[in-house]
Amino acid sequence: MKVTVVGAGNVGATCADILAYREIANEVVLIDIKEGVAEGKALDIWQKAPIDLYDTRTVGVTSDYSRTAGSDVVVITSGLPRKPGMTRDDLIETNAGIVKSVTEQIVAQSPDAIIIVVSNPLDVMTYQAHISSKLPRTKVMGMAGILDTARYRAFLAQELNVSPKDIQAVLLGGHGDTMVPLPRYTTVGGIPVTELIDADKLDAIIERTKFGGGELVKLMGTSAWYAPGSAAAQMVEAIVRDQRRVFPVCIRLDGEYGIENCYLGVPVILGKNGVEKVIELALNDDEMELLRTSRDHVIDVMNVLDRLGK
Ligand code: NAI
Ligand code: 2OP
Repeated sequence: MKVTVVGAGNVGATCADILAYREIANEVVLIDIKEGVAEGKALDIWQKAPIDLYDTRTVGVTSDYSRTAGSDVVVITSGLPRKPGMTRDDLIETNAGIVKSVTEQIVAQSPDAIIIVVSNPLDVMTYQAHISSKLPRTKVMGMAGILDTARYRAFLAQELNVSPKDIQAVLLGGHGDTMVPLPRYTTVGGIPVTELIDADKLDAIIERTKFGGGELVKLMGTSAWYAPGSAAAQMVEAIVRDQRRVFPVCIRLDGEYGIENCYLGVPVILGKNGVEKVIELALNDDEMELLRTSRDHVIDVMNVLDRLGK
């Protein structure tokens, strides 16, 4: 399997490193516009192979899309990250142009690839990549739900002093403050979380999760990369190994949850064809209301993209 990672910055290089280290692909191509950066990072990852004992070939290139030809999966991380004080939506104009041009060049070389978008604002960059690729919706998806859920699970594990491995959860909606955590679907080793934690502590964890990305931007002056890179690699693995894993993934909704033509995070089955199935949960009225609020926010930003001319 051949996987291309576009953007050799913090998230892209982390993702490429995990793909190589865990031998998720036979070949990983890292591509960037900054002369030499992708080459250097790919070489560094390759030089780690004799230490960590893997044989994934890692190749770095500057803007030469012919080297990405025949990729099975492409992860798009190119674009500006947030700086303190910025929202993800502030990135739209610059990142839309980057995602458009990158997607067109990728699809020209790898018409059968499955595309995973990471660039922000995530839901609307998935929209941009979907339009620019002209691929079916099941082959163009965004990574955010695994990351947001991981943050929620990590905070819960810390609060309950249990292994993060035993926390199962699902989150819906856009990648932003309007995301919809679902305590009703959160379990700790099979036990409903509400039996183990006070409501006010759970509410505080949900709030911290919603602003989890911003917390890290404030600390580091740029956005996170270890968990995002790992989350994108986990999606690649589910596809290339046809694992049929159940993950929250951003995809265009075509009537699911009563929502049309909006890119939102929902649980899906991820396998060799990309999104194999969208899972529809039976939401209660309060959860549905939160999902509609998230939809309205994403549609506002999609409209900004439409006005920019895509
Ligand atoms: P970074 O600045 O470290 O890396 C971005 C890379 O993209 C740079 O190396 C840059 O040269 C490259 N690039 C820019 N234009 C390009 C083009 N036209 N073609 C190829 N490469 C190009 O940024 P970082 O931290 O890696 O973040 C990347 C993106 O991912 C940002 O938009 C960030 O907001 C987003 N992000 C999304 C997350 C999510 O959950 N969906 C989580 C973390 C970051
Ligand atoms: C995050 O949530 C910035 O979207 C990125 O860390």
